Amino acid sequence: MTPRWFAVLLLGLVKQSSSEEDECSVGVIGESAILPCIYNGTQSLLSANISAWWRSETEEMLRAMWRQGEEILNVSLLESSRVLMPSLCPQTGDFSMTLTGIVPMDAKTYSLHISFDDEETSSVLCTVCLKVGAHFSFPVIQRGETNVEHQTQFVCHSRGGYPQAALHWLINSTDQPPSGSVKAYAQPLQDSELYNITSVMTVSNAKHIPVTCTVENRILNETFSTIYWPEEKQFSPVVARASEAMLVFSTVVIIIVSLLVAMGIVFQVKWDRERRRPRLHEDDSDTEDTDITMDMEHLDSLTDTVV
Ligand SMILES: *[C@@H]1O[C@H](CO)[C@@H](O)[C@H](O)[C@H]1NC(C)=O
Ligand SMILES: *[C@@H]1O[C@H](CO)[C@@H](O)[C@H](O)[C@H]1NC(C)=O
Ligand SMILES: *[C@@H]1O[C@H](CO)[C@@H](O)[C@H](O)[C@H]1NC(C)=O
Ligand SMILES: *[C@@H]1O[C@H](CO)[C@@H](O)[C@H](O)[C@H]1NC(C)=O
Ligand SMILES: *[C@@H]1O[C@H](CO)[C@@H](O)[C@H](O)[C@H]1NC(C)=O
Ligand SMILES: *[C@@H]1O[C@H](CO)[C@@H](O)[C@H](O)[C@H]1NC(C)=O
Repeated sequence: MTPRWFAVLLLGLVKQSSSEEDECSVGVIGESAILPCIYNGTQSLLSANISAWWRSETEEMLRAMWRQGEEILNVSLLESSRVLMPSLCPQTGDFSMTLTGIVPMDAKTYSLHISFDDEETSSVLCTVCLKVGAHFSFPVIQRGETNVEHQTQFVCHSRGGYPQAALHWLINSTDQPPSGSVKAYAQPLQDSELYNITSVMTVSNAKHIPVTCTVENRILNETFSTIYWPEEKQFSPVVARASEAMLVFSTVVIIIVSLLVAMGIVFQVKWDRERRRPRLHEDDSDTEDTDITMDMEHLDSLTDTVV
């Protein structure tokens, strides 16, 4: 499916986004997140009897009690103990809650309540919201032809993200695709809340222009772009051609050098023989003959392997 003549350049762009409503913690699906809460009040936590509990909008999740700093109760009210609080809260003042195995349903607002000395009244120490997302993969662009002349189809695909996002196209780095040229699909993945997203853009005369596909995950503050370079702008095939040329060149050089060496040896041996002939026995010249053939064979096999 992937023709050899194009190159795809991946660009990871992490875009700055405005941080107005971004007081929330961010959790990635399947991982854990910390909902921070630090006690900064003036009342001593160690000399009092305290109860502290985390609530979501709908239910209590975790409750703990300390008598003068010593833990006397610690219950997770959530299924499979997905919530944890440090046990030394009164000592450190850190009541942050860790929520593990995050699922999309966890995107809520949570609050930590605290009451002193078994008082009826409690106060809210912290209110923390959680946003949930999952990383989309880098978009992958594939190019195809259509039956219509001068028309090109680009398919951009990104997998396994949350929440469902749209893929955005740019033609020639700046131009929006013409209206009606883009069809988008989202495929929910089985047994998870994640999505594959696909976008198909059908455009005319775009064969020689770079095309960009971008996926933006606003929750995770991630923007990934892939640029599909047309034939003329490609990089890797140029590199491939250069290295092919290098290979041919070095092969030729090796052959020439081998021939020169071989000729040198032949002349050297001949010259030696001429010079020594009057003084040498026939046995000696026989040995030299063998040497030459061996050398030639060796050279032959050398050039064979190189070519
Ligand atoms: C998004 O990421 C950029 C770069 O990593 C960072 O500077 C910015 O503060 C982030 N914005 C939010 C809202 O987290
Ligand atoms: C405690 O923290 C809250 C917000 O986290 C802040 O508004 C308040 O001024 C702090 N109080 C002290 C005494 O540091
Ligand atoms: C509750 O107990 C668990 C272990 O059973 C511990 O990891 C956690 O820190 C304790 N939490 C508190 C608030 O004491
Ligand atoms: C804490 O609780 C214990 C028993 O539950 C009680 O004896 C003690 O007086 C309480 N301390 C304070 C400061 O309320
Ligand atoms: C692509 O953009 C460049 C500069 O941004 C412009 O010179 C060129 O004409 C554009 N090509 C097409 C086919 O629109
Ligand atoms: C999601 O995309 C991956 C590849 O990117 C593919 O292997 C998988 O089958 C897709 N799942 C669905 C439900 O489309």
